[in-house]
Amino acid sequence: MIIKLDQAVELIKSGDVVAFPTETVYGLGADAFNIQAIKKTFELKGRPSDNPLIVHVSNQQQVDSVAEQLPEEFEKLKQAFWPGPLTMILPKSDRVPDLVTGGLNTVAVRMPDHPIALKLIRQTGPLTAPSANKSGKPSPTKPEHLDQDYKEGIPILDGGSSEIGLESTILDLTISPPEILRPGAITAHQIENVTGSTVTDFRNRSLSDTEPVKSPGLKYTHYKPAATVKWMKRIPATLNQHTIYIVHSKKNWPDHPQIFSYKKNYARLARDLYDVFRTADHLGYSDIEIEQLPDAESDRMIHALLNRITKAVGTDE
Ligand code: TXA
Ligand code: MG
Repeated sequence: MIIKLDQAVELIKSGDVVAFPTETVYGLGADAFNIQAIKKTFELKGRPSDNPLIVHVSNQQQVDSVAEQLPEEFEKLKQAFWPGPLTMILPKSDRVPDLVTGGLNTVAVRMPDHPIALKLIRQTGPLTAPSANKSGKPSPTKPEHLDQDYKEGIPILDGGSSEIGLESTILDLTISPPEILRPGAITAHQIENVTGSTVTDFRNRSLSDTEPVKSPGLKYTHYKPAATVKWMKRIPATLNQHTIYIVHSKKNWPDHPQIFSYKKNYARLARDLYDVFRTADHLGYSDIEIEQLPDAESDRMIHALLNRITKAVGTDE
């Protein structure tokens, strides 16, 4: 159910969990220092508790309450990208419960670029917030998605559709050089331009079997709709009645309810991707075919899109 900001503040202060909008996807917010509230987050989502949560902040004082010994790149990156879709992994302060970080000695911190989120966090203090979907579903980018996932009902702050539509870039600043653990709207290139040094992208080197999982969440299935997602091998001569098609080339695709056409607008494709996944499931389509993406250099959203779609296809597991 949709609630007002004052109600959301009250609920969170009393240890409850509230879904709130951010520019990336909706989050499931709880008081980062309240163990019961965090337990409730894991239960509501159906999420394994070894998968740590991102702490959302609205100012530097809140950063200082959850993190310490801030790495030297932090200030520059904060100036350049906060509020915004960049999550930074920092050394954790003792105040942060182990439950938030899955026992790690680091904490993920982000300042979201959304007026409602910032107003909320200013009044509640730091909020843990995983993407608000039930575990295994695509992240919610609209209040309707939350109603689909939580039949039992959930308090929602309505902020309309998320502008970016894919989860934040996660950058580990506790190692040198810093490493991207999850690609998002802020690219390695943009980060390098600010820090003046190279950033590694862990998916570009091969992880050996013995290497510990860097970001525990990455080992879980994500972003998958119920429909089977496939890369398009060739342009279909005729449409299959059970398939939704997501295309983005400039080619003149016919106007048709099964075709979602983006004409090289990758920001719009990113914004809509999870909504189209959910629409396909809602309407009972069994398959989703997606046209192969161009090189990552051609648009800043390609890297994140490729990562989420590859996970939905399931070829990287
Ligand atoms: O855009 C976003 O980041 C959204 C919005 C709500 O802010 N949140 C989000 O949270 O995507 P979640 O919980 O769905 O994904 C967080 C990821 C998980 O893969 C988790 O393993 C990783 O962040 N993570 C959290 N803390 C970490 C840490 N200390 N070290 C490494 N990875 C961490
Ligand atoms: Mg998530």
